[in-house]
Amino acid sequence: MSRAVSSGPVATLHAVSADTDVPAVLVQGLTFAYPDGTEVLRGIDLVVQRGESVALVGPNGAGKSTFLLHLNGILQGSGRISIFGLAVETKNLREVRRRVGLVFQDPEDQLFLGTVGQDVAFGPANLGLNEEEVSLRVEEALEAVGMLGSEEKCSHHLSFGQKKRVAVATVLSMRPDLLALDEPTSNLDPKSRRRLVQILAALPVTKIVVTHDLPLAFELCERTVILDGGRIVADGPTEQILLDERLLAMHDLELPYRFAPPTSHSCRASSRPG
Ligand SMILES: Nc1ncnc2c1ncn2[C@@H]1O[C@H](COP(=O)(O)OP(=O)(O)OP(=O)(O)O)[C@@H](O)[C@H]1O
Ligand SMILES: [Mg+2]
Repeated sequence: MSRAVSSGPVATLHAVSADTDVPAVLVQGLTFAYPDGTEVLRGIDLVVQRGESVALVGPNGAGKSTFLLHLNGILQGSGRISIFGLAVETKNLREVRRRVGLVFQDPEDQLFLGTVGQDVAFGPANLGLNEEEVSLRVEEALEAVGMLGSEEKCSHHLSFGQKKRVAVATVLSMRPDLLALDEPTSNLDPKSRRRLVQILAALPVTKIVVTHDLPLAFELCERTVILDGGRIVADGPTEQILLDERLLAMHDLELPYRFAPPTSHSCRASSRPG
């Protein structure tokens, strides 16, 4: 670990649900290599408490998307992962996937049925919800991403940014407890980005947000984790991590030119042992 930022015990500083203190995400010693031998994750330990919003940032190829794919068992490396206390293993995958809403980096991977309405309805219909409830969920999710009225449109005819919005809707319609978002704002126009940020900020669920859009981390996440070379190299309050120019430069990250962090952002501190 090249650098870590610590500022106090995690558990005391985070919103933890009253009924249980089981974390939303517990990852211990996760390692993973693709079948071609590419070693990607090299011993990840991470705890995300319920209600936290954590930005996961790092250079291209760091392993961010690969890591997210482990949270609902699409990829299974060695080590241990549990989601709300449930081990991510084959026998639990149905329940894990109900609770984890994963938005893929590439929306083409998420939209595989004919129309937008069918894609967004797929998850809730699979949960066995009745038609009325499914329609309600579809409407609510499309409204949230500003795509209401596009139900009959062929998903593959949408622009990339529209596909991204619908991909987010396919997950919102499941009302997940943990949102794992891979580049949710990529290719969105400024208004759509703003709208999505507001929607996500208002959702009272745990969030892990992979992004190259560092201002998004300030807007949405009180905590930021840097992943580089398959290892977590820094973890702490977003302001502390992302205003550290030297740390950012070490990991090929940078804020936009003349970026000014929002002053009103209230930061819930987090730490990992250095
Ligand atoms: N299916 C695969 N087979 C072999 N190697 C892969 C596969 N998918 C990804 N990789 C490799 O794994 C590494 C991590 O990729 P990953 O997509 O997780 O990075 P990332 O941090 O999400 O990058 P980006 O910021 O570009 O999205 C890269 O070296 C990539 O080439
Ligand atoms: Mg990626």
